[in-house]
Amino acid sequence: MTSRERALALDAVDPLAPFRDRVVVADPELLYLDGNSLGRLPHATRDRLRTHVEDEWGGRLVRGWHDWVALPSVVGDELGAALLGVGPGETLVCDNTSSNLFKLAVAAMRATGRRVLVTDDDNFPTDRHVLAGVADLLGAELRVVHSDRDAGVSVEALREAVRDDVGLVSLSHTAYRSGALAPVAEVDALAHAVGALTLWDLSHSVGAVPVDLSTADLAVGCTYKYVNAGPGAPAWLWVRSGLELDNPVQGWFGAADPFAMDAPYAPAAGAQRFLTGTPPVGGLLAVQEGVRLLAEAGLPRLRTKGQALTSYLVELADAWLAPHDVRVASPRDADARGSHVVLEHPRAWQLVQELVARGVVPDYRVPDRVRFGPAPLYTRFVDVHDALAITRDVLASGAHLTRPAEPARVT
Ligand SMILES: Cc1ncc(COP(=O)(O)O)c(C=O)c1O
Repeated sequence: MTSRERALALDAVDPLAPFRDRVVVADPELLYLDGNSLGRLPHATRDRLRTHVEDEWGGRLVRGWHDWVALPSVVGDELGAALLGVGPGETLVCDNTSSNLFKLAVAAMRATGRRVLVTDDDNFPTDRHVLAGVADLLGAELRVVHSDRDAGVSVEALREAVRDDVGLVSLSHTAYRSGALAPVAEVDALAHAVGALTLWDLSHSVGAVPVDLSTADLAVGCTYKYVNAGPGAPAWLWVRSGLELDNPVQGWFGAADPFAMDAPYAPAAGAQRFLTGTPPVGGLLAVQEGVRLLAEAGLPRLRTKGQALTSYLVELADAWLAPHDVRVASPRDADARGSHVVLEHPRAWQLVQELVARGVVPDYRVPDRVRFGPAPLYTRFVDVHDALAITRDVLASGAHLTRPAEPARVT
């Protein structure tokens, strides 16, 4: 069996293989391995949005709000049940991840009355920026612990930092660069032992990696990666049931009665108060279709396939790319990583440019990483095989060395 035949054999027994027909594959030759930046467009979403624009917006006009107004919580409940394993009334689809992080972080800090927030130095930039802004706003301190860029969050470093002056510990579950998973229950226990709350960013987990939130307090995440809801689709937030917090961005949609026009602000019950303004209806419908497609595939099967795809990628990288100065910079244990793999190479930026020119789409992450995100819903083993074979050929020929050495802003 050639190695390509082996990949085809793995595809032949993949229970999720039929789901590839449920998303738009405009260019069948394209080896798309960036589903962890922007997922593919489901057919159902394209059809739903067309109906929404033509019949609902076009036809019903303002009368459509009767059905649209509850979408943040309706879609939130669907997302929470299918992808987070949480109960109804705890999840809202709204705003973007950064804004949701801000609202929840300020709320948590005010509720605990403490003066220190904890995060790590390898957390996603927006998380670090938002948390630094929250610290400034509240006259608090942001205590930043060091995480290894490959191995992820260090529980030892956290143990040092999480003292009884801490109000909030905010980390990512799956590290955006290496894919390393943080130990949620262990961190929650550390935080709770000193009376602090926890706020998890699940952007690189939701829709691909199950996470047990039974010990957690708060979470946020985006929907344009594995949830396939489209560029700039609204994000979500989750508040543990029973946790009473106040939204610092008091908008009319978070009020008990948004249409009590003359009344002063009175917050809605529960998580609902973390809404702010008018919901983005088209985006919400896209999230709903994305969630329903993933629910049909089933999170356990998505996780199993994600682990198999990334393990296969690691195996090929070791066999074919290691001789060309490539190092696997993600955890090797599939249980310790999310659904993407990052490779380190001194010419990573040039390599990515050459790969994109040859129809292979990973992405680049500073300073020297090529990130492959084979989304389990629609990526085939043969896609991973062919992408890595092309990568091997590029490195062997040195073709990437003709590409500009200075990175562009967005990949
Ligand atoms: C971990 C993480 N958090 C947040 C974001 C993005 O946040 P926002 O939806 O505000 O753009 C990303 C985007 O890639 C991410 O990887």
